Parts: sequence; structure tokens; C-alpha cells
Amino acid sequence: MSLRPLFAGDVEVLAPALAAMDPWRTLGFTAAGLAAYLGHEDAALTRMVVERDGVAAAVVALRRPWLRGPYIELLGVLPAAQGGGIGRQLVDWAAVQGGGNLWACVSAFNAPARAFYARAGFAEVAVLPDLVAVGQDEVLLRRLPGPAPTPAAR
Ligand SMILES: CC(C)(COP(=O)(O)OP(=O)(O)OC[C@H]1O[C@@H](n2cnc3c(N)ncnc32)[C@H](O)[C@@H]1OP(=O)(O)O)[C@@H](O)C(=O)NCCC(=O)NCCS
Repeated sequence: MSLRPLFAGDVEVLAPALAAMDPWRTLGFTAAGLAAYLGHEDAALTRMVVERDGVAAAVVALRRPWLRGPYIELLGVLPAAQGGGIGRQLVDWAAVQGGGNLWACVSAFNAPARAFYARAGFAEVAVLPDLVAVGQDEVLLRRLPGPAPTPAAR
């Protein structure tokens, strides 16, 4: 398993897989839209992939600078790789990219991801109605600067 920058070839694996899973499925994202997002030029967006057995298993897109610290704009672990610690590793990686606050956003209906971010030390700081899709709330999450929560405290 390795963490590396996203390559063009990853997009055809990741975009349809993300479009088929929540939250993107419920929010109405298409594979074409996600492919455009993953592939577009954006100097402020760092896109990294976790590769497992030679194929992309997870992706993180980190926007920086953002708000006195970076913003996790997209985080997705493909279903077959979920529950094995990859998501936490990607958050830990994001936390040391520039330091300061670490931000993320999660759809209110996405209870599993809300639990995941809570375990990773994030607090829910604001509700943003209709941000991504009309009728859906997004929840802004903030992890304060400082050391990551210890395993015992998680
Ligand atoms: C949410 C997500 C990023 C978590 O990544 P993951 O690799 O499956 O999670 P990890 O194995 O790293 O889990 C880390 C911790 O979060 C907890 N956690 C993970 N998924 C959870 C769930 N569905 N419900 C409750 N807790 C969960 C784990 O139990 C673990 O806690 P621990 O401290 O007891 O060990 C991943 O499941 C995912 O991509 N989901 C779909 C897309 C999504 O929701 N993205 C985030 C919002 S855009």
C-alpha cells in the first residue's frame, strides 16, 4: 500500500466508483463530473491516492491555503478498502500539510463519516444548508491545531 500523487489513469477508476457511493450518489454527482473535478488544473488542490495491489483504493483532495490551515475537500475510501485505517491515515497525512487548523465538510445524512471524523478529533462547528445540493445540509468540521488524538483518546 502506498500514498502517491493522483495520476490521470486513476481518474477512470475513481470517478465511477465515487459516483456509485454515498455521499456523492445521493448528492447527484456523476462520474463525468467527478472525473472533471479530479482532473482539473488547480494549483491550490493537492490530490493524493492510496494504491493497493496496483490500483487506486482511496483518494484525498486537500485545498491549501484555506483558513489558517488546509481543507479536506474530498476524502473517499473505496468500499473494499474501508474499515482498515486508510481514512485515518489520510487525515493524519492532511494534518501535517502546512499545519494549523484542519477543516472538512460532511453531508448531514452521512452518519458514518460524521462518526469517523468525530473519532479523528474533529468538532462540528457549523451547518451549511443547501451548500452542495438543495435540501441537504453540509456540516463544517474543524480539528484544532496540535497533536492528533492519541489512540486511547480516539
Ligand atoms: C468515512 C471514510 C473516509 C472512513 O475511512 P475508513 O478507512 O473506512 O475508516 P478507518 O478504518 O480509517 O476508521 C478510523 C476510525 O473511524 C471509525 N469509523 C470508520 N467508519 C465508521 C463508520 N461507518 N461508523 C462509525 N465509525 C467509523 C473506525 O471505527 C475507526 O475508529 P477507531 O478509532 O475505533 O479505530 C470511508 O469509509 C469513506 O470513504 N466513506 C465513503 C465516503 C465518505 O463518506 N467520505 C467522507 C465524507 S466526504
